[in-house]
Amino acid sequence: MTTVSLGMPRLPAAGVPDVALPADRPATGGLVDRFGRVATDLRVSLTDRCNLRCTYCMPAEGLPTLPKDSVMTREEIVRLVGVATRDLGVRQVRFTGGEPLLRRDLVEIVRDCAALPLRPELSLTTNAVGLDSRAAALREAGLDRVNVSLDTLDPDTFATLARRPFLARTLAGIDAAAREFDLVKINAVLVRGVNLDHAAELLAWCLERGFELRFIEQMPLDADHAWDRAAMVTAAEVREQLGERFALEPDEEPRDGAPAERFVVRDAHGGRLGRVGIIASVTEPFCGDCRRTRLTAEGGVRDCLFAHTETDLLGPLRAGADDAVLADLWRTAMWGKQAGHGMDDTGSGTDLDTRPGSGFTQPARTMSAIGG
Ligand code: 5AD
Ligand code: SF4
Repeated sequence: MTTVSLGMPRLPAAGVPDVALPADRPATGGLVDRFGRVATDLRVSLTDRCNLRCTYCMPAEGLPTLPKDSVMTREEIVRLVGVATRDLGVRQVRFTGGEPLLRRDLVEIVRDCAALPLRPELSLTTNAVGLDSRAAALREAGLDRVNVSLDTLDPDTFATLARRPFLARTLAGIDAAAREFDLVKINAVLVRGVNLDHAAELLAWCLERGFELRFIEQMPLDADHAWDRAAMVTAAEVREQLGERFALEPDEEPRDGAPAERFVVRDAHGGRLGRVGIIASVTEPFCGDCRRTRLTAEGGVRDCLFAHTETDLLGPLRAGADDAVLADLWRTAMWGKQAGHGMDDTGSGTDLDTRPGSGFTQPARTMSAIGG
């Protein structure tokens, strides 16, 4: 925006919040922070709603949903993704939720983002319920990749974990994704006493189909606040479980900022079966290599899953802020990113409290409200 000086006091630009911005923040370029990290990977939550109630995410009764008019519209999403890609160096955009398939305009959102001048790589994280009828349209609209959450192949265990008996619908969605997309990734969370001993079977199933499976350590993002560091299944335990059936060797390929530590999987005779990833967010955090920035469904920038603050972009956008102002707010938000999440800290430093994770406080939003 250009301001013409008429010799009058300058009014603040439209939509600029009335707060002091740090003077040392970068005025141009990408999303850098004080620790030298550069965020090029954007996760956009399209809705806080979900049709499952996974125990590690939602409470049984669900969460109060956001009022419709506080959720970003298709146009607002595309505008912000455009600012991220054109002005802020974002190269990859992943749509998450809640469950993004619950957006009726998902295909259009994908199509509009694929038509942006600096087209980002576009992917979707989904529970795949209902994906069977939309996978082809999503691919045609320009979606590049799909990650499906699947924790077990046993219908009863699925119903226990997701509190909905939808395994068959998820599997139908995965079949469709496999037909339409070159690379299907599966995300699994293991819960002790529920699906921990299903890990090897799930891996065998994924390897047979050419899917890349990644186990994610359970993070304290559940609405019930039932997360317990001592009960959580660690990456080391996942390796041990899989080791009973497969041989795992560290993948030689550089990790390159990816959160998953990757292993080549071999059978008892040394034959190569494929790969598996383990995301040790809690026990082996990768915050030092983080390349992520997040937008909540309400258009707030979060610099981390575990951030306690958000920077609202939707309010300024609706108040008329131009792209330069939105980019400046986004840069400022990321400039303040903390070094790490402190989830596995050994105590608060007071000598009195030495419990693992005691230096960490759970954010008020759950995974479904932030966007995985
Ligand atoms: N810890 C780890 N992963 C989680 N997910 C949801 N809640 C949690 C949690 N508390 C995963 C889902 C999905 C992705 C978006 O995040 O299983 O794969
Ligand atoms: Fe829904 Fe994903 Fe949360 Fe499960 S983890 S309840 S699928 S948002």
